[in-house]
Amino acid sequence: MRCLSIVLFLLWAPLVVPALSTTSSTPLALTKRDVISDILNDIKDIATCAGCNSLLLVLQALAHTGNDNFVKVITAVCTATKKEDPDVCAGAIGLEGPILAHNLRQMTVGTKTADLFCLTVFGLCQWPAVDTSFSLPLSSKPSISRPAPSNKTPIKVVHISDIHIDLNYTTGASYNCTKNICCRPYTADDEPGVTEYPAGPYGNSACDTPLSLEESMYAAIQSLVPSRAFSIFTGDVVEGAVWLVTDNEVTLDLQSANSHMASLGQVYPVIGNHDASPVNSFPPRSVDTDISTQYAYDTLSDAWSSWIGAAAADEVSTNFGSYSTLTASGLRIISLNTNFWYKQNFWLYEKTMENDPSGMLSWLAAQLEAAEAAGERVWLLGHMPMGASDAFHDQSYYFDTIIQRFDATIAAVFYGHTHKDEFEIAYSDYNKQSASTATMMSYIAPALTPTSGNPTFRVYDVDPVTYGVLDMHVYYTNLSDPSYQTFGPSWGLLYSVKDTYGTQLGYTDPSAELTPAFWHNLTVLFENNDDVFQEYISLKNRKAGNDACTGTCKTSEICQLRAAQSQYNCGVVSPGINFKRDVVAGSVITTAGECDGSRAVPILTGLLGADGIANLRAGLVDVLGQAFLNTVVPLNSTD
Ligand SMILES: *[C@@H]1O[C@H](CO)[C@@H](O)[C@H](O)[C@H]1NC(C)=O
Ligand SMILES: *[C@@H]1O[C@H](CO)[C@@H](O)[C@H](O)[C@H]1NC(C)=O
Ligand SMILES: *[C@@H]1O[C@H](CO)[C@@H](O)[C@H](O)[C@H]1NC(C)=O
Ligand SMILES: *[C@@H]1O[C@H](CO)[C@@H](O)[C@H](O)[C@H]1NC(C)=O
Repeated sequence: MRCLSIVLFLLWAPLVVPALSTTSSTPLALTKRDVISDILNDIKDIATCAGCNSLLLVLQALAHTGNDNFVKVITAVCTATKKEDPDVCAGAIGLEGPILAHNLRQMTVGTKTADLFCLTVFGLCQWPAVDTSFSLPLSSKPSISRPAPSNKTPIKVVHISDIHIDLNYTTGASYNCTKNICCRPYTADDEPGVTEYPAGPYGNSACDTPLSLEESMYAAIQSLVPSRAFSIFTGDVVEGAVWLVTDNEVTLDLQSANSHMASLGQVYPVIGNHDASPVNSFPPRSVDTDISTQYAYDTLSDAWSSWIGAAAADEVSTNFGSYSTLTASGLRIISLNTNFWYKQNFWLYEKTMENDPSGMLSWLAAQLEAAEAAGERVWLLGHMPMGASDAFHDQSYYFDTIIQRFDATIAAVFYGHTHKDEFEIAYSDYNKQSASTATMMSYIAPALTPTSGNPTFRVYDVDPVTYGVLDMHVYYTNLSDPSYQTFGPSWGLLYSVKDTYGTQLGYTDPSAELTPAFWHNLTVLFENNDDVFQEYISLKNRKAGNDACTGTCKTSEICQLRAAQSQYNCGVVSPGINFKRDVVAGSVITTAGECDGSRAVPILTGLLGADGIANLRAGLVDVLGQAFLNTVVPLNSTD
């Protein structure tokens, strides 16, 4: 999960920063000194891409002394910086540290890989240009176009996402804690009967989803959408206390969620970035490591088999969670593990970054070639939207190239991850964005978890022949309703696209498809009619919080809606974006990192703070002794 917070990037500039280099940067140390203590002196206030590369030389030297030392030093820095509670420091770095240390040992400082690492972890390098030298072998595009609506009676499809079930949710435990999710008895003071802030039985905006709320949503779907053809679930089962999550918990959480979700009948699910431990850890095939997520793929394979069939279930365990299957009525569903294109999957920062980790893009292209040849209609399901700031620019570009090639065969794309109610439009030409160049819709569903707004699910009206989306209805339950905790969640319709926006655009025929052109026209309406845009923002945020989005916030938001390739989403990288604090964009308040999986990233970002490098020096001396500071850093050491 991750907020599409390009807006925050633009408006939040916490540190005074000299102009950032946008190109690969020679670390200062390579041209000046190469002893660790001198490098540390040089980078007291690192604020540039070059400075970050110098810091990587130190972290790399530390990583070469072993995972245990790396974990000890970074945990000590985290504890000293007080950015997180000590138990979070130890837990998060204990889990994620070995992956980061593995990256650093492999990395050649001063390369694109190192710059991307600096971008993701510290916000100190800008995105390198997209590598267009790589391309997938796609057959040439035939002259076929999107089919017109059939005018047959639509089917209903339910879309749920980011359920984040906390099986340790404790009614009466404190909802006012120092962690990213509360409603658990972390300390004696948080216990039911002790705390002044007792959580109700059905959830709280400071906490992930209790079982009671999950069951209430499934019951609501049963009664509100009894005639649904099937449901889709776009990932993230596991809760957000990531520093405590073990392989065993992931397994139990996935099994529990699947057995509860079975009450919906037929579901086509997706693996999310939280559905592994350590969080975001999805090693691609090529990486040599003992850390494995195979147990999660195997658990999902078993759990999904009755929905997707034995052959697709086998594929889940052999193909890293991705599968391709046909619905009873002949729709091809391709479910993708988008974590191979996610910048917080740190296994991807190997010495040479792969263009197509685990061959997942090639696999997707082959599935689409076969579907096109068979005359099938296709839905693509994934967790992370490929136009989000979370998606590597290179892989987002390659992915969109596939989408453009098969835009007549793919009816639509469905994602979750951002927790927000939004969409993304793909274009055949991003420099000439118009209704006539809009080629594909990505439907990004809001979450069940109450951490980022009211609990929601979607229902699509779908053409039973073309599988085009004809309308979209969002249902919700109002967390702040006075009867919510006493009588339980009451679910109802929040809005539908044709009622709310179609009426404004003269587009209300129930049998007309919500085409990419329609959605493009809606973004034009947003530009021209601010009331409609502000209502969109309020719906996007699931009717929670103070919503006004004007000026740069508005232009960035519209830019993001028109970007299915992340290089075009107007995201700006700023240093320290991952600091643990509230940031304000317009007046939309989001906790930075709220939607990110990794806790190690905000911890490492602490090295940028006033005492960050001093804390690092102290940690190095403490764990490795004073002599370590005299280590000569081997240039571009990768052994
Ligand atoms: C969560 O619940 C399980 C089972 O009751 C328990 O073993 C575990 O310690 C709990 N974890 C936390 C963090 O409370
Ligand atoms: C949380 O507790 C602190 C005191 O520990 C208090 O100042 C604050 O207002 C509380 N927050 C909420 C949301 O109740
Ligand atoms: C939710 O309930 C609160 C309290 O009754 C009310 O102020 C608010 O307007 C409701 N929000 C929605 C979206 O129904
Ligand atoms: C989008 O707007 C253009 C220009 O107003 C119009 O010609 C076209 O019919 C609209 N498309 C849809 C699908 O509403």
